[in-house]
Amino acid sequence: MACEGSLADSIDWPVKAVLWVGGPDGLLELIDQRRLPHELVRLRCTDVAQVCQAIGQMAVRGAPAIGVSAAFGLVLAAQSAQGCDLKTGMRMISEAADRLIGTRPTAVNLSWAVRRILRRAETFLASRPQAGMADILDAIFQEARSIWQEDIDACLGIGLRGCHLIEEGMGVLTHCNAGALATAGQGTALSIIYQAHKAGRSFTVYVDETRPLLQGARLTAWELAQAKIRTVVICDNMAGWLMKQGKVQMVLTGADRIAANGDAANKIGTYTLAVLAARHKVPFYIAAPLSTFDPSIASGCEIPIETRPVEEIRQIHGKDLIPAVVELWNPAFDVTEAALITGIITEAGIIRRPNASRIAAFFDRLVSIRPRRP
Ligand code: MRU
Repeated sequence: MACEGSLADSIDWPVKAVLWVGGPDGLLELIDQRRLPHELVRLRCTDVAQVCQAIGQMAVRGAPAIGVSAAFGLVLAAQSAQGCDLKTGMRMISEAADRLIGTRPTAVNLSWAVRRILRRAETFLASRPQAGMADILDAIFQEARSIWQEDIDACLGIGLRGCHLIEEGMGVLTHCNAGALATAGQGTALSIIYQAHKAGRSFTVYVDETRPLLQGARLTAWELAQAKIRTVVICDNMAGWLMKQGKVQMVLTGADRIAANGDAANKIGTYTLAVLAARHKVPFYIAAPLSTFDPSIASGCEIPIETRPVEEIRQIHGKDLIPAVVELWNPAFDVTEAALITGIITEAGIIRRPNASRIAAFFDRLVSIRPRRP
């Protein structure tokens, strides 16, 4: 990969998974999550190809984090277009947008952020027809900064809205990584855990390993260890038995895309947990910012599910484990139907027993409180 890396000597908490260094002519710095927990290495991306590679190869991952990274990817595209005439420059930005959107299909935060930047560039040009590419770069940079800051605020809001749900002595089961590493801020599901911990409650977080890429074992366990929260890692196939022992009082995960009816895509294995939670009468919560909702699709059937290279399953630590003649299947996400979800915790409040009408009413109320920007 063409990005530079440097070994960080200290951990700044919460870790900054996505950071822009400098002004409009700056660069994007990402923690290379493939190398955690062994090394904390930052990648420096100076062009959009590097950002696409970092997202596609999951150096940066997690729905909000890839959205924010893609937004800054367009700042880099606008940098490359400096010196071009307006038509050529805008075409370069639009091509970069398509490449970024094509990197990973499931998390809607990515296309949401890219489209928001494109809209900003278009409305800016409509209001300033004489503008040049330097002005466009500035407008795109401001919008990317807003997306980044809003994600930080949303994470905190989710934590504050949801932390009362975690009571003293509870067992909370989570899957994959919906923490600081997956966002620009302190995470979604993990933000709730951090706020409950900050409020002085003690509880245990059970973390699914999350095969095949082990985001739970490598990333969530690492984050929770930094925060000194009692953590027990389990293999994915142990969750049912754990619930049967009465050790889990809440399942709490993130989401990559939530349809208009509340069906939610998240890391493969989440659906299994939701079914198990229903069987054991354990509340199942999703934590997600408003940017994870996709009102354009009626149900989870329409969510595109990313299929990743089968080598992620065949190999462990780079060594083949499964005979080459055997077929493999590697869907990266699954969809949990709304009927299995106790509540969706957002920065604007909790949608309990989500369905199409409750979600529509929730958003209608938000628009009446906070009118959309023109
Ligand atoms: O494939 P990944 O690691 O990007 O999947 C991430 C997840 O499924 C997270 O739970 C989701 O993005 C929510 S992150 C706040």
